[in-house]
Amino acid sequence: MNGEKRRILVTSALPYANGAIHIGHLVEYIQTDIWVRFQKLCGHECYYVCADDTHGTPVMLRAEQEGIPPETLIERMHAEHLRDFGDFLIDFDNYYSTNSEENRRLAQDIYLRLKAAGLIEVRTIEQLYDPVKEMFLPDRYIKGECPRCHAPDQYGDACESCGATYNPTELLHPVSVISGARPVKRASEHHFFLLSRCRDFLEDWIRRGYRGDSPLQPEAMNKLEEWFAAGLKDWDISRDAPYFGFEIPGAPGKYLYVWLDAPVGYMASFLNLCRREGLDFDAFWKPDGGTELYHFIGKDILYFHALFWPAMLHFSGYRTPSRLFVHGFLTVNGQKMSKSRGTFITARTYLEHLRPEFLRYYFAAKLSDRIEDLDLNLDDFMARINSDLIGKYLNIASRSAGFITKTFGGRLGDLACTEDRAVVTACQEAAEELAALYEQRRYGEAVRRIMELADRANAYINEHEPWKLVKKEDRQARAQEVCTTALNLFRLLTLYLKPILPGIAAEVETFLDIPPLRWQDSRALLAGTTIRPYRHLARRIEAAQLQALLADSREDLDAQQSEHTRTRHGQAQQPRSAPPAEPIAETISIDDFAKIDLRVARIVAAEDVPGADKLLRLTLDLGGETRNVFAGIKSKYQPEELVGRYTVMVANLAPRKMRFGVSEGMVLAAGPGGKDLWLIQPEEGAQPGMRVK
Ligand code: 2FM
Ligand code: ZN
Repeated sequence: MNGEKRRILVTSALPYANGAIHIGHLVEYIQTDIWVRFQKLCGHECYYVCADDTHGTPVMLRAEQEGIPPETLIERMHAEHLRDFGDFLIDFDNYYSTNSEENRRLAQDIYLRLKAAGLIEVRTIEQLYDPVKEMFLPDRYIKGECPRCHAPDQYGDACESCGATYNPTELLHPVSVISGARPVKRASEHHFFLLSRCRDFLEDWIRRGYRGDSPLQPEAMNKLEEWFAAGLKDWDISRDAPYFGFEIPGAPGKYLYVWLDAPVGYMASFLNLCRREGLDFDAFWKPDGGTELYHFIGKDILYFHALFWPAMLHFSGYRTPSRLFVHGFLTVNGQKMSKSRGTFITARTYLEHLRPEFLRYYFAAKLSDRIEDLDLNLDDFMARINSDLIGKYLNIASRSAGFITKTFGGRLGDLACTEDRAVVTACQEAAEELAALYEQRRYGEAVRRIMELADRANAYINEHEPWKLVKKEDRQARAQEVCTTALNLFRLLTLYLKPILPGIAAEVETFLDIPPLRWQDSRALLAGTTIRPYRHLARRIEAAQLQALLADSREDLDAQQSEHTRTRHGQAQQPRSAPPAEPIAETISIDDFAKIDLRVARIVAAEDVPGADKLLRLTLDLGGETRNVFAGIKSKYQPEELVGRYTVMVANLAPRKMRFGVSEGMVLAAGPGGKDLWLIQPEEGAQPGMRVK
């Protein structure tokens, strides 16, 4: 590393203000936070800003559903997001809102500058309009039959069955998701940003790069090549009222599309910080300010950040990003996050069970500079935290600090012996390599290297057996040296892990009674000073904690994003529609159906039935009354994953005496059996005891 002090502005994508932060989001915030903390540890001037992405139809409709103004909704979400991020030790320099005066001014001004540059054109287009709700419908608010494969219930922009993309006006038998009405075609004037005219600039931006580096990772470059080859399409940046957003100057009733003002939110958040702290906004946003600008984003929003955003910035007189750092999506246990499996885990639910630093460590251990998906395998997560963090890293302190405290009054010795110095020097020498790995976002490699160093430290302790040395009168001084060496290694490892484990690092600094570690402190040694008594800094993860986390996540449906919203980095499972496996039964009258009393039930307890291969005993709450039901669902479900779930039961089925007891009803499930079995679950909101009709 050379000594040059860099000036760096860093952003993460702005989360939507209509949903909770979940662990899929956290991959990015943790990745960014580690990078920013590393830059700050190196002494660079680095700012990390973010904000809530507040505008658009989903926020508007959710607020309407809740009967509150959108401003109230976004204020509440802002507080929740801020708390979640804070508790995950994501250290923003500013966390703002796109619904701010700074953002309004900047976004409207950028629009006017693009217009003055001849890059805005007004065109009349036809769109689907909901005549009941009296609004134009975004693609995701229209459902109908796929015009290609005729799959029913497909969104207005793409078919999840055959993968086709199309125009919503092509959808067969369209229906408004909002009102259920049949939408009609209606013409309206829209403002387009002429991206097609920005191609030369964009190609040049990519070619020029930043300090000889491409602004994009190789996989992202390939994507861009594809998009260039397909031709850059002009971008519709306006929406008609009603819309929650900023009005377009000089065009009453027209609003800037949320995706135009969202990235401007990066600037607005920074401007707000500049005003508060007296920083120079222009140095970071005007061309040639000698500063660096990095955006961390998920692969799903590359198009916006690699095409629209640099073009918007450049043609409105601002600088372009130095580089985009793109990451993949999160899977849990190898699959998309899923509500029914309990793997759609919100930040809050996670925090109720586990320390934030465990997830930070696990994500770091799996992150690289590539655009790869990242899997949170829960068994591996537990094994890794227990073996690496507790068994290797923290173990160094717990094996050596006690002797220093008990036998030497907390006083460290010297590193007098050549061997001790050599092992510490070897650890110090890793600083440069680790710095390069952090800089390049190759955190997984950094973690592996740090754990090798931890192994080496533990081997050193094993070789010298301080627990035996302290017992021998004439070897006590040596015991003090060995423990001092071990604690020097521990201090260095703490520094190396500090970007990932900032909370633990702060506790270690207190324990060692040292000022906050900086990267340059890797060159220093700790000798002759006094430490405080060591207290265990973390406990092992137990399997029961993970089970409880999954069970709570299944219950925590309220915290999930609306089904209308694109859920970033981990979508809910898509329904698969299969043809009926068995013929439809003989017709019954409505009166026949009315005889069946179906009720919403909450599973309050579930247990194995000794001696029964297929059955689980369920205790069902019907809203005051409880029922005991034996259900043949053991082939698919573990009892603990059922507790807290809602289902539907036949409540007036005659009680049936079985070998194991009396069954007082029946729960409903679909599928042929075995693993292909799906317990019926009502939509969230339905309460135990409600009749299903
Ligand atoms: O995809 C999303 O979640 C958007 N809210 C990200 C916006 S990032 C930036 F452009 F504001
Ligand atoms: Zn289709």
